[in-house]
Amino acid sequence: MRIGMLTGGGDCPGLNAVIRAVVRKGAGMHGHEFVGFRDGWRGPLENLTMPLGIPDVRGILPRGGTILGSSRTNPFGVDGGVERVTENLHKLGVDALIAIGGEDTLGVATKLHERGVNVVGVPKTIDNDLNATDYTFGFDTAVNIATEAIDRLHTTAESHHRALIVEVMGRHAGWIALHAGMAGGANVILIPEFPFSIERVCAYVESRFQAHYAPIIVVAEGALPDGGDTSILEKGVDAFGHVRLGGIGEWLANEIESRTGKEARTTVLGHIQRGGTPTAYDRVLATRFGLAAMDSVTERAWGTMVALQGTDIVRVPLSAATAELKLVTPERYAEVEVFFG
Ligand code: F6P
Repeated sequence: MRIGMLTGGGDCPGLNAVIRAVVRKGAGMHGHEFVGFRDGWRGPLENLTMPLGIPDVRGILPRGGTILGSSRTNPFGVDGGVERVTENLHKLGVDALIAIGGEDTLGVATKLHERGVNVVGVPKTIDNDLNATDYTFGFDTAVNIATEAIDRLHTTAESHHRALIVEVMGRHAGWIALHAGMAGGANVILIPEFPFSIERVCAYVESRFQAHYAPIIVVAEGALPDGGDTSILEKGVDAFGHVRLGGIGEWLANEIESRTGKEARTTVLGHIQRGGTPTAYDRVLATRFGLAAMDSVTERAWGTMVALQGTDIVRVPLSAATAELKLVTPERYAEVEVFFG
């Protein structure tokens, strides 16, 4: 079989581990051939390819990013885009396509499958907000990076008697903030699922100072105060119409300073959470996803996606990835609230 592979959307530590596993099993065990499509859906749209054999995937297991490149190109947003993608796949003799991505990339894969393209999906996002899988690779790495940042901020916050705010990624779901905040012993964790009261946040900050400690506040980029509207956070939109967010950390620092009189500073972790080498957990999960995706292709399980359920890798319909986001539940949030203040 001749198999195309692409990585789309925001990059994620572990993408290269998936690519390596697919090629090692597909070429090494089954004798399949691979075509690497560059830069997400832009690859099949503009016929941008690269060789993808066993020599090309040597040494990439611990490397962050993706050797295939990525983009947020949406062929359904381009005039004649879908026809160009299917024509190019046909011309290149591609029998099957493995799409590695989040809700947008897999959303395109779902629609292409409905139009007869043989697609298999691999879920990817550091946000861990895809409903069909317990965990996505990249999340553990992001949480570890954010936790290390919180550990470091604790000591400097104590020295200077400041409130320090850490803004982490998470547009709609607060999983990174929740896990890193719990692991790092944050005094307040603010996430998009639950609008917060600025008065309560300030009360937590003051009670922390009264206990002779300096507060650390972890805030997801999509968190909002009660009654707040997202326009304070918006910084334009991408090709899938998602708003780019940022600024809630700075807003919090200003509010805390003016309401409590205590010095407050913000650190925005941004893309540091997505770069660099994946943790061992993410390498293992990504490798298992890659191996299972290869099996899905061999067994012609088109329109499916690999997913982690418990400790097993299973197959679910591609559409399950995009049906609904996995959000933090009130029960999970209540666990961290025990440590607030
Ligand atoms: O989708 C993952 C994510 O990390 C979001 O949490 C974040 O809003 C977004 O990517 C930012 O990505 P970019 O800067 O590449 O648009």
